[in-house]
Amino acid sequence: MDRFLIEGGKKLHGTVHISGSKNAALPILVATLLTDEKCILHRVPNLRDVRTTLKILEYLGKKITYQNNTVVVEANGQLKNNLPYELVKQMRASFWVAGPLLARFKEADIPLPGGCAIGVRPVDIHLKGFENLGAVCDVKAGNVIIRAEKLTPAQIVLRFPSVGATQNLLMCACLIPGETILENVAKEPEVDDVIAFLNKMGADIRADEKGRLVVHGKTALHGAEHTVVADRIETGSFILAAAATRGDVTVADCVPEHNAILLSDLREAGFTLEVTDTSVRVPPYEGEIKPVRVRTAPYPGFATDLQAPWMTLMTLCSGTAEIDEDIFENRFMHAPELVRMGANIYTEKSVARVTGVKNLLAAHVQASDLRGGFALVMAGLCAQGESEVERIYHIDRGYENLEQKLAALGATIRRYNPDKDEF
Ligand code: EPZ
Repeated sequence: MDRFLIEGGKKLHGTVHISGSKNAALPILVATLLTDEKCILHRVPNLRDVRTTLKILEYLGKKITYQNNTVVVEANGQLKNNLPYELVKQMRASFWVAGPLLARFKEADIPLPGGCAIGVRPVDIHLKGFENLGAVCDVKAGNVIIRAEKLTPAQIVLRFPSVGATQNLLMCACLIPGETILENVAKEPEVDDVIAFLNKMGADIRADEKGRLVVHGKTALHGAEHTVVADRIETGSFILAAAATRGDVTVADCVPEHNAILLSDLREAGFTLEVTDTSVRVPPYEGEIKPVRVRTAPYPGFATDLQAPWMTLMTLCSGTAEIDEDIFENRFMHAPELVRMGANIYTEKSVARVTGVKNLLAAHVQASDLRGGFALVMAGLCAQGESEVERIYHIDRGYENLEQKLAALGATIRRYNPDKDEF
């Protein structure tokens, strides 16, 4: 399996251009199931999870072309309304095909997505929402068969503002004539991008004065063309890598306001940031990195997906920083690997206490999940000497051309596979 070899201790410098958002592209690709007409999507990042989603669409019966970050989705005969476990187990977001398939065929037969390294990740909020819309969900032998004689508009209150459940239920409600109201919804920018695409397809979704999503369902949706929003997690990841290596980096083609709380916390830690409408510059800073406490929360709170990279920054702070991971129950797996690199981290349940050290030490470490993997790459960039990060297939899920982008910023990083390549 591929690994990264990183020669650390170099300040990143230059400009990095952010790709389209993985977490917007995946649901938007799934939303093309709502129509048989052609959809054209631009700025779709070339990632493992995107390629998995394209495989799912082809399995279900779509014709896909994908080049230069543009995906064209066209009908190719009758759609299937079931998915094999082989595909679902690779990526839990594949469960989001349930909404469109239920809406169009009144039946969807989907394997329940397993958990993953960061948590059990149930789908009860999705299923309860489908039941509110008139469906019956039968869970058996690892699959869920969702059926409805007739889907009816409803008022649905999500018990937690789940990103996936919000998007899954929106896609279903779009094709249920009448008014469906979703309350306590996720407000992540990726959800906004999915709504923008659905409305381009002819859906009628708007937020009311109470922040609820009001959907006036249609009998059919048409094709549309859309450019995926910039990836705010990649944006935050590169900003944090620039800060941790004391570099001078401009993160371009992003939406800074989507990272407002991160920028505020970085300023509190001592960094000055130069922000325009589409870029964030982290200028050189040699002062102390002040400890700043963060708690992960639904947007606009501190993004759980940036908790791991933030932890790497805090391993170099001038005191003790507390990190509360309040979204996922097991999202500190990068911590023991950072400790192997000389960090001083104590975790207990959902709280990590990071006491800063003077510098990190190069080591051989293993990624356990996507964002924890990035945190280890960041640590390797900071540590003097050569670090090796194993299991980077996790990282390939969510960072497009990572080693190329980092090398263009002056990092010494290369991918190698000990089973294939000469060392
Ligand atoms: C999306 O996952 C993202 N993935 C995740 O990014 C992100 O961490 C997460 O939202 C939170 O922002 C994609 O968009 C593809 P949730 P999702 O439903 O939709 C619990 C990354 O690194 N929950 O908002 O699965 C759940 O267990 C990935 O890019 C239920 O209990 O997240 C978790 O504790 C990782 N029941 C919390 O809610 C449900 O039915 C948030 O989950 C659904 C969720």
